[in-house]
Amino acid sequence: MTSKSAEDATNFRRDAPAARRNAGAILPILADILPASGTVLEIGSGTGQHAVIFAQALAPIKWLPTDTSQAQLASISAWISGSKPPLPLSPRKIDATSKVWPIDTVDDVGAIFSANVIHISPWAVCAGILAGAGRILPEDGPLVFYGPFKRDGQHTAPTNAAFDASLRLQNSEWGVRDVADIAVGGETEGLILTQVIEMPANNLIVTLRRAAT
Ligand SMILES: C[S@@+](CC[C@H](N)C(=O)[O-])C[C@H]1O[C@@H](n2cnc3c(N)ncnc32)[C@H](O)[C@@H]1O
Repeated sequence: MTSKSAEDATNFRRDAPAARRNAGAILPILADILPASGTVLEIGSGTGQHAVIFAQALAPIKWLPTDTSQAQLASISAWISGSKPPLPLSPRKIDATSKVWPIDTVDDVGAIFSANVIHISPWAVCAGILAGAGRILPEDGPLVFYGPFKRDGQHTAPTNAAFDASLRLQNSEWGVRDVADIAVGGETEGLILTQVIEMPANNLIVTLRRAAT
């Protein structure tokens, strides 16, 4: 007979096929970029599938998943309780646009990761992540974005242009972001664009690092 907590875990678990598909390509890049220890703060963890996969593969790095949606937080907890250690830390509610994040120095955050968040939300969310990274990251700590991006005003593929148009139809404040705008926004928060890596399916990994103060 299945226990009540195991049943709850299954009920709240959501599935994002894209996260399952892209985790394998993202993982080795993250392993190269991230510091060898400390905590990775994930913004907009969604279902929690990335968090579980990355926490298991990247230990002893600690993985701290967060999201602004209560349903996503429940899914993250459900994936954690149904998975084998090493597991992510308990998820926290963070709205990236908030000027105060529930993160303390004891959390030892040395890096921030955010996948497929900043184009499916207003620019304020991207700006909030850049500002949060500026407040929290130690010198040289990486902020890593994964997703579709424009480069110098141009889409990198016709499919990304079509995706961008469909996003903007859903919400006029959403849309595929330009790496150049992220670099400019990052500079005002003390972050420097250091690396852009081409990924499968016309996605990029865009890394900024905290400059010395
Ligand atoms: C398309 S999902 C991506 C989830 C996951 N990172 C992935 O790659 O599968 C976007 C996520 O961003 C979250 N999100 C949207 N606005 C946010 C905000 N202001 N602060 C934090 N997370 C936000 C949503 O709740 C959602 O879980």
